[in-house]
Amino acid sequence: MTRARILGTGLAVPDRVVTNDELAGIMDTSDEWIRTRTGIRERRWVREGETGAELAHTATTRALDMAGFRASDLDAIVYATSTPDHFAPGNGVFLQRRLGAATIPAIDIRTQCAGFVYALSVADGWIRSGLFRHVLVIGAEVQSTALDVSSRGRNTAVIFADGAGAAVLGPGPDDGSGLLAFDLHSDGHHAEKLWVDSPGSMYHPRITAEHLKQGRHFLAMDGKEVFRHAVARMPESVRAVLVKIGCTLDDLNLLVPHQANLRISEMMQRELGLDGERVYNNIDRYGNTTAATIPIALDECVRGGRVRPGDLIVVTAFGSGFLWGSAAIRW
Ligand code: UT7
Repeated sequence: MTRARILGTGLAVPDRVVTNDELAGIMDTSDEWIRTRTGIRERRWVREGETGAELAHTATTRALDMAGFRASDLDAIVYATSTPDHFAPGNGVFLQRRLGAATIPAIDIRTQCAGFVYALSVADGWIRSGLFRHVLVIGAEVQSTALDVSSRGRNTAVIFADGAGAAVLGPGPDDGSGLLAFDLHSDGHHAEKLWVDSPGSMYHPRITAEHLKQGRHFLAMDGKEVFRHAVARMPESVRAVLVKIGCTLDDLNLLVPHQANLRISEMMQRELGLDGERVYNNIDRYGNTTAATIPIALDECVRGGRVRPGDLIVVTAFGSGFLWGSAAIRW
């Protein structure tokens, strides 16, 4: 059976580093609070005018280089983002244009923190069915422009950040490597626990002066509730995807969790009984970049020698929706 395989990865983050101390200068927070509650030391935020599609383009160039491909070798784009540059169209087409790619299909996936896992599953289906051969998968976000950087928004402003990760996928050799299985879920009962209310098409106009005054255009989160569900759902999903491929936690070489909060990763690690060597975290340097955390981490793992041919890797994510899921990958 043809399996989809990751042939190249790349990442791009803005060059503007925002430290905890910088945030403490503009809102009521402290480096100590942020480090101990989230594990974040610094994050990257875009400069005025820098866009998500631009970051995705840079990440793509690096992934294409690793794969030994050119943009003209791509057959489709799957772009995961909850923060498109515009309300419509989605960022897939802006990336297609920047790449100078042919008129290949480009879709956006809007499943927030779980975006990259969902996007991988779409690319996997396309490749395995034979519909498309080489598929570019993106997880990219610009969250900083949706953050309330006054003390009112401190519970989200200190966490969320900007960045992009890319993966070029294609059919792999028939040797058992590639994307092996997915475990995907949603539970809309919690939709308002991590969301951006406005602009929305249910409002006319889609954003009002009242919305702006109330801060309804900012990312809003019930942190405690999200945390509680995240630490239960991600380990559950990791176990479920391993069961699907007939493997156990002992077979797992590396877990790459969505970088939401270091405490969430550490609780999951304890719950799964994994040693620290088998869980990759980089939230200290990048914060929570939503759909971009996993492809950014994957790229660091690939380039840093943390994954070797034959390794079993699971990526797992939980977030806004709620949406969550995992993918098992034999490298
Ligand atoms: O990627 C999508 C998924 N997202 C997540 O998984 C995030 C999940 N949630 C979290 O990571 C945590 O809930 C937070 C880091 C957001 C918050 O940590 P917490 O330990 O749950 O804090 P809390 O919200 O219960 O707040 C505790 C205190 C409050 O003060 P009082 O009411 O006890 O006086 C907050 O007002 O900490 C205060 N607080 C802050 N203090 C300093 C909240 N944010 C900050 C801040 N700096 N930035």
